[in-house]
Amino acid sequence: MIKLAVTAALAAIALPTCISALGLDQAAVAAGLTYFGTATDNPELTDIPYVTQLNNTADFGQITPGNSQKWDATEPSQGTFSFTEGDVIADLAEANGQYLRCHTLVWYNQLPSWVTSGTWTNATLIAAMQNHITTVVSHYKGRCLHWDVVNEALNDDGTYRTNIFYTTIGEAYIPLAFAAAAAADPSAKLFYNDYNLEYGSTKAASARAIVQLVQASGAKIDGVGFQGHFVVGTVPSQASLVSVLQSFTALGVEVAYTEADVRILLPTTATTLAQQSSDFQALVGSCVAVDGCVGFTIWDWTDKYSWVPSTFTGYGAALPWDEDLVKKPAYDGLLVGLGASVSTTTTATTASSTASGVTVTATATATTTTTAAHWGQCGGSGWTGATVCASGYTCTYVNAWYSQCL
Ligand code: G3I
Repeated sequence: MIKLAVTAALAAIALPTCISALGLDQAAVAAGLTYFGTATDNPELTDIPYVTQLNNTADFGQITPGNSQKWDATEPSQGTFSFTEGDVIADLAEANGQYLRCHTLVWYNQLPSWVTSGTWTNATLIAAMQNHITTVVSHYKGRCLHWDVVNEALNDDGTYRTNIFYTTIGEAYIPLAFAAAAAADPSAKLFYNDYNLEYGSTKAASARAIVQLVQASGAKIDGVGFQGHFVVGTVPSQASLVSVLQSFTALGVEVAYTEADVRILLPTTATTLAQQSSDFQALVGSCVAVDGCVGFTIWDWTDKYSWVPSTFTGYGAALPWDEDLVKKPAYDGLLVGLGASVSTTTTATTASSTASGVTVTATATATTTTTAAHWGQCGGSGWTGATVCASGYTCTYVNAWYSQCL
């Protein structure tokens, strides 16, 4: 008689394989967003495996140039404009049929020295700023779904950031910038873009005041970009994020996550990668849950090209794909937040032995389907993904293109 003795735990070898019928942009559109997208940058475009995935429109329906539309790139010396690099990315997006989020016109950073060190009066700096905006926006006219017109005008305490524009012109530089952009391309949606708005703190209140300042001036402002730069585990709850987003849409503007990443203290562990997945799920889930949240952009898609390691010592791994372009748990977290169904197949190998020296190997395979436990699409026209809710929840109509498991 053969005696079977299990000598290793079930989890000796665990190889999760995640399967979803939909990519990130497909799931985003099915959930009622306009796009799921990513930033990219010109130096990366020589990396063929990288570009192959960048061109994958199942995942990315929108592209943001990470650097090449900024002031130092487009007007390095006064009155001399260069669009070569920005055009490369605009052309790539257009060839793929991906939306272009244009970034950014007026920012304290990445300004050429002729701006930061110039001798300005109120009138001459307004003229230089208007000329910059008019020329750049006119060049890309008709190609930008959004323009980040003013970027990071606030300190974290909600006061205005001191920069050459604020110091010389005062807060009026903000509505003036929006007015110039609207005149140059009436079809582009114009955004104010900043980080750390997600906590709903004083800084968020000041950003709402900026929206109202522009509106009161008579200039057009269409949206507010939530950059979404986080440390793993510090992302607010989804309900809290929803509430903050809604405090902006109540002003009559759209919102979008524009630069999302969730950095981790290296080396990563299974726990921090799982937390990162939950964090991304809450972020994108909050966008799905808010009428007027139009899209979700990650600040590049692979850790290979993230800005994080060079800026935050010891941190990295902030994006849904690792440095080898392999998907991390965060990819599935995003899908679940978008309401898609994700199947996880885990193969566990158990080694067994007998008293007679014969070794038997048993393999067990388990498949689980993760659905949006609470938030997320679970039915409705055009939806081709999951139609089931987790146990204890019922698929409930919310609006024309969105239901939740409640
Ligand atoms: O262009 C020079 C190049 O000539 C030089 O050889 C090289 C040497 O380091 O530097 C190049 O400039 C770098 C530039 O990116 C272009 O690659 C700068 O050093 C580098 O600091 C700069 O970083 C960018 C950063 O903005 C600047 O603040 C990141 O790539 C870009 O991802 C990041 O993006 C910002 C958003 O625009 C606004 N929100 C925050 C976000 C992250 O910082």
